[in-house]
Amino acid sequence: MQDLSIVMKTQNVIISQCLERDLEAAIKKCNYDRLFVLTDTNTVENCWPLVCGFACLQGAKVITIGASDDNKTVESLCHVWDELQSGSATRHSLLVNIGGGMVTDLGGFAASTYQRGIQYINIPTTLLAMVDASVGGKTGINYGGLKNQVGVFNLASSVILHTCFLKTLDHPNIASGYAEMLKHGLLSDDERWAGLLAVDLASQNLDLDQMRLMVASSVAIKQHVVDEDPTEKGMRKVLNLGHTVGHAIESLAMEQGRTILHGYAVAWGLVCELYMSVALCGFPQEKMRQTVQFIHQTYGRFDLDCKDYDRLYELMRHDKKNVGNNINFALLANVGDVRLDQKASRELVYEAFDFLREG
Ligand code: GLY
Repeated sequence: MQDLSIVMKTQNVIISQCLERDLEAAIKKCNYDRLFVLTDTNTVENCWPLVCGFACLQGAKVITIGASDDNKTVESLCHVWDELQSGSATRHSLLVNIGGGMVTDLGGFAASTYQRGIQYINIPTTLLAMVDASVGGKTGINYGGLKNQVGVFNLASSVILHTCFLKTLDHPNIASGYAEMLKHGLLSDDERWAGLLAVDLASQNLDLDQMRLMVASSVAIKQHVVDEDPTEKGMRKVLNLGHTVGHAIESLAMEQGRTILHGYAVAWGLVCELYMSVALCGFPQEKMRQTVQFIHQTYGRFDLDCKDYDRLYELMRHDKKNVGNNINFALLANVGDVRLDQKASRELVYEAFDFLREG
């Protein structure tokens, strides 16, 4: 099989065909004293058994935190620091994060701050973490009811992607990761975008070889952007397509005690932001229609009441990417043609919410 590994200017991402061999090589490179593994209550049960027999992980201390985004908290972070400390971790210790984006984000932040920073390796186990969260060095936790409010940019020593973990996921979690792949497709070219819309995601037989190629292609798009702008001073903002509205949808749902997966919020965010892209940047209507149709078929509709528009808008004003009072959007003039720092009137944003509900 083709070697698809990607050497970033900034970070080593391995599209693995042999997890044990690739993890052993990545660990060896780190020249560590003590080894720690971070899991959550799901991955310790479903994913840790796939790797715990590896010779390179023997003797590691396993730390487990609660699963799901509700546990991406300062309390979980303190638990990881406590466990590192009680396991006598030093500045030369190594943390291997095995899990979805919550684990790789929180584990990356714990590693980046413990004794001013120890090395870490990410082994993402969800599609979402493979194509987005685990790659590119964004680490952090939720704070004050808002997502990813506290964190640092700090790259993992290595990120190892292996699609064997996708077998542990249900359909909604595959669909969730696929939303970020769709975003990457919209940022790249017509061929990749159309190829993504042509996949029957509901099919019961996930083709792991096809997924491996698609994951590699998706990560390469993100990687190209991160290499150019690792700390989001400019170009990396393109990766926020769909996220300005998407994060607000996620926060609103969290406030209302509804659990929605990140990728679903991003998909619905894309619906709104494509609507704004047509209005402000001349994005082709037909491409918007095709993309929105795929999103409705795959993700259904977000249950949004017009009484919630003001709150949703307020949440968007807290977005980290804003400058001053302006809400900043990354929008599209066409597939692969991004316009950064776009401003939309409140009226247009509310029209986009209407379009999400009824369009
Ligand atoms: N998830 C967007 C980024 O990594 O910049």
